[in-house]
Amino acid sequence: MSKGTFYITTPIYYPSDKLHIGHTYCTVATDAIARYKRMCGYDVMFLTGTDEHGQKIEEKAKAKGVTPQQFVDEIVAGKGGILDLWKLMNISNDRFIRTTDDYHVESIQKIFKKMYDKGDIYKGSYKGKYCTPCESFWTESQLVDGKCPDCGREVHDAEEEAYFFRLSKYADRVQALLETGTFLEPASRVNEMINNFIKPGLEDLCVSRTTFTWGIPVTFDPGHVVYVWVDALSNYITALGYLNDRYDDFDKFWPADVHIVGKEIVRFHSIIWPAMLMSMELPLPKKVYGHGWLLIDGGKMSKSKGNVVDPVVLAERYGVDALRYFLMREFPFGSDGSFTNEALITRINSDLANDLGNLLSRTVAMVIKYFGGTLPAERQMDALDDELVSMAGALRDIYEKNMEAFAPQNALIEVFKVISRANKYIDETAPWVLAKDESNKARLATVMYNLLETIRITVSLLVPFIPESCEKAFEQIGARPEDCVWDKANIFGVLPADVSVKKGETLFPRIDLAKELEALENLNAKNAEPEIPTVTIDEFAKVRMTVCKVLECENVKKSEKLLKFKLDDGSGTPRQILSGIAKYYKPEELVGKTVVACTNLPPRKMMGEESNGMIISAEKDDKLNLLMLDDAIPAGATLC
Ligand code: ME8
Repeated sequence: MSKGTFYITTPIYYPSDKLHIGHTYCTVATDAIARYKRMCGYDVMFLTGTDEHGQKIEEKAKAKGVTPQQFVDEIVAGKGGILDLWKLMNISNDRFIRTTDDYHVESIQKIFKKMYDKGDIYKGSYKGKYCTPCESFWTESQLVDGKCPDCGREVHDAEEEAYFFRLSKYADRVQALLETGTFLEPASRVNEMINNFIKPGLEDLCVSRTTFTWGIPVTFDPGHVVYVWVDALSNYITALGYLNDRYDDFDKFWPADVHIVGKEIVRFHSIIWPAMLMSMELPLPKKVYGHGWLLIDGGKMSKSKGNVVDPVVLAERYGVDALRYFLMREFPFGSDGSFTNEALITRINSDLANDLGNLLSRTVAMVIKYFGGTLPAERQMDALDDELVSMAGALRDIYEKNMEAFAPQNALIEVFKVISRANKYIDETAPWVLAKDESNKARLATVMYNLLETIRITVSLLVPFIPESCEKAFEQIGARPEDCVWDKANIFGVLPADVSVKKGETLFPRIDLAKELEALENLNAKNAEPEIPTVTIDEFAKVRMTVCKVLECENVKKSEKLLKFKLDDGSGTPRQILSGIAKYYKPEELVGKTVVACTNLPPRKMMGEESNGMIISAEKDDKLNLLMLDDAIPAGATLC
C-alpha cells in the first residue's frame, strides 16, 4: 500500500551549453532522494526538464546560424544531449518538461493573465543600463568596471516598457513563511534571504521584455514576451497539468514536497515563487532545499575558465554508479565542495573497490570454497556476532533519519560503517581457520550467513545511489527481489538458511590512481588546447598585414552576419572587405577607425559581394573585438 504521494523536482536546466558535473550533481542527488522515497513506499513524482527561453539562447542560436528552437532541440534531444545524459546517469524522472512544450506555453499565458487580472501584474517602465551592441539591460551591480559585463563596452541609461509583478505586496507573507524554519533548508540560507533581500525591501519584479522575441508572448500585449522567471518557475505546476489539458496530476501532487535547487537560485524559489503562488491563490511547496556548489580550484566551474568537468567522460571511465556514489558521498549536500579527480578515484578505490567490493567478493568466494556455493542450514551463534548483527539491524532507522534530513552523505557514511564492521568481522572470526576443522561447519556457516545478511541489508540501502550495482550484488548473494525491500532492511535473518551464492563480475575494479590522474590530465589538456601547427618564419613573412582606415561600413542586405567595409589601405584605391561581425558592431561605430587587415588573401565572394582580405579581430568566449590601432599610424603601414 502506498504511504502517500511525494513530489520532488530539480531546477529546469538552461540548454545553452553541454551540462557539466555540477548539474549532474544536482540531478543525481534528486534522483537518489526520489528513489529512496519510492523504496519507502511513496507514490513519487520526480520532475526535471529544461528552461529554454530567453535572450541568451536567442543570441547563441543566431551566432550558430540556426533558429532558437533548432538550437535547443539539439542540446536537449540531440545526440549526447541532456536527455541522453540523464539516461546515461540512470536518472529515474517520471516526467521531463521543456518550457517550449505547447501545454506549458498555454499555461504560462493563462498564469500571466490571471495575475494581471488580479492586479498583481502591471505595466511600467524598466530602467537600467543599456548596452546597445548587445541589446541588453544591466543593473548597476551587474556591470564590470562600469561597463557591459558581456562585451566590455560603454553602457547608457535607458528605459523600456515592461510589465512588473507586485512582489513588494507579498514581502510580509514571504518573510513569515521563511521564518517558519521548515520551508527553506538548510537553515543558514534563511537568514541570507531575510537579511539580503527582504529587509532591504523587495522591489517589484520585471516580468516581460520587448527587446527580444524568444519567449512566450503576452497574449494581451503582443510586443511583450514573458520574462524568464515566471515562465521557468511555473514549470513545477504546468508539468502537473495546471491550466492545461495535457496532464491531470495537479490535485494529486501539488503542493510539491520539495524543490531541490542550487544555492544561487534559492532566492527565486523561496521569495518569488511563493509570492507568485500567493498571487495565484495556490498552496505553497512544503520545502525548498538549497544545495551547495561543486567548485574547482576554489571557484565556480565555467566554460570560459576551461575547467568544466564532463560527467560523460568520468561515467564512461569509472562507471555510472561509481560516479553517482562519489557525488553523494564526497560532499555535504548543503555546502560547497571541491571537485578533484584525485578525490574521485580515491573515494571509488577506498569505499567501493576495497570496502564494499572486497566484502562481497570475499564472502561469495568463501561460500563457494567452503560449501560449494550453498550454505548448510545448521547454525552456531557466538558473542562475536552480536555487534555486527545489532549494527546491521539498526542501520535502516539511522539511514532514514539522515535521508529525511537531506543528508545523503551521512546516510552513506552510516552504511559504510556497517560494511567496514563486516570486514573486521571476517578478520575476527577467521573463517579460513574455522574451515580447517569439519566440526566447525555450523559455526562457519553462521559466519557466512551473517556476512550475507549484512550485505543484503547494506546493499538494499545503497539501491537509491548505485541501483545497477546493487542488482548485481543481490544476484551474487542469492537474494530474491522480495528479500531486498525497505520493509526487510531492518530485519536480520531474511535470506533462506540454505541460501546459494553465485560468483559474478567484480563490481568496482580498483583504479590505478597515478595512471588515471595522468590520463585525465592529458584529456583535459587535449580538450583545452587544440593542437596548433607551427609555421616557419618564411611562411609567416608571406602574410601581409596592412593598417587601414575605415572609409565606409554598412550591413550586407539579407545577411545577419556580414558587414561590408570600404577601406583606405594606402594604395589610393578603396579596398572592399566583408566581415562576419555584424553581431558585435553597428556599422556607424566603425567609420573612421584604424584597423588591421590581411591584404594578400585571394579574393572571395560572399552573398554576391567580393571580399579582398580579412579584417583582424580577437575572439574569446563569444566576445569579439576588432584589432584597432592608434589614429596616428598611417593607412598602408604594414605590421612587421
Ligand atoms: O539556474 N555545482 O539553470 P542552470 C552544483 N534555468 N550545482 C550546480 C553547479 C555546480 N558547479 N552549476 C550549476 C537555472 N548547478 C535555471 C533554473 S528553475 C525554475 C530554473 C546547478 O542550468 C544550479 O545551482 O543555470 C542550478 O540549481 C542548476 O544547476 C541549474 O542551473
